[in-house]
Amino acid sequence: MTFKGKVALITGAASGIGRATAIAFADAGAAVALLDRDETGLGAVERSIQNLGGEALAFACDLTDPGTAKAAVDAVEKRWSRLDCAVNAAGVEGRTCELLEEDDALYDHTMDINLRAMWHCMRAQIPPMLANPNGGSIVNISSGAGLVGSKRSAVYSMSKHAVIGLTRSAALQYAKRGVRINAVCPAGVQTPMAERIIATYDGSAPSGGGAFYPLGRSSTAEEIASGILWLSSPGAASAVGTALTIDAGFTAA
Ligand SMILES: NC(=O)c1ccc[n+]([C@@H]2O[C@H](COP(=O)([O-])OP(=O)(O)OC[C@H]3O[C@@H](n4cnc5c(N)ncnc54)[C@H](O)[C@@H]3O)[C@@H](O)[C@H]2O)c1
Repeated sequence: MTFKGKVALITGAASGIGRATAIAFADAGAAVALLDRDETGLGAVERSIQNLGGEALAFACDLTDPGTAKAAVDAVEKRWSRLDCAVNAAGVEGRTCELLEEDDALYDHTMDINLRAMWHCMRAQIPPMLANPNGGSIVNISSGAGLVGSKRSAVYSMSKHAVIGLTRSAALQYAKRGVRINAVCPAGVQTPMAERIIATYDGSAPSGGGAFYPLGRSSTAEEIASGILWLSSPGAASAVGTALTIDAGFTAA
């Protein structure tokens, strides 16, 4: 797969799946715009890409701020005059607890980032793709918890189910106009988020331990990035509104 001459925007690019995806796009020849609120992590990813001879532009931003996503896309268009691919990976894990222990603050925080910010991002990303003669591709990161219930975090699971609804609805609306929109559903990927979840593991959720997964191990961020790049590539031309499961067999069990 080559993305030479293409421009990809990745949110949550400072860490985990977003980081691996940004590096994979750059490796495949794309210029990459990196968005994250973690300025230090973002700078490190930007430097690694530039050290490999790639082109990267970092935007330190909190995507829950209204207008941020649009400002970043405007800057991308100013720099490269196009946007071909976007991956919305910024997200938070919520809290490991049962429903009765959840509260409004947790609800607002989780939904604001996992859902509302993604909705804002897509609304900023779609117009330049509609104007692009080659169209565009958006991949949203849902979760295995977007396909099945979660014993540990109802709010997180709600947000990730909603990501699939958002993805499918937008996919239906823009497919004929050249913008393909899909989701990826990973589970238990080896990232800082998974480490935080494991730290609060209560026995009901998947741990990083391989035995939990039918594959015998959990997925790496690079394996998720590989699926994201495929969905973003011409080889996936008829993938529209799909929720691609890459989860070491978690939801097959
Ligand atoms: N790791 C897993 O096991 C797993 C499984 C299923 C789904 N996911 C999803 O994949 C995505 C990436 O997760 P990850 O494991 O790489 O997590 P991570 O914590 O390693 O990375 C998430 C990134 O999002 C950024 N971010 C969070 N809120 C933000 C905001 N308001 N503005 C800008 N940036 C913000 C963080 O700073 C961080 O760099 C998330 O949507 C997550 O829900 C992860």
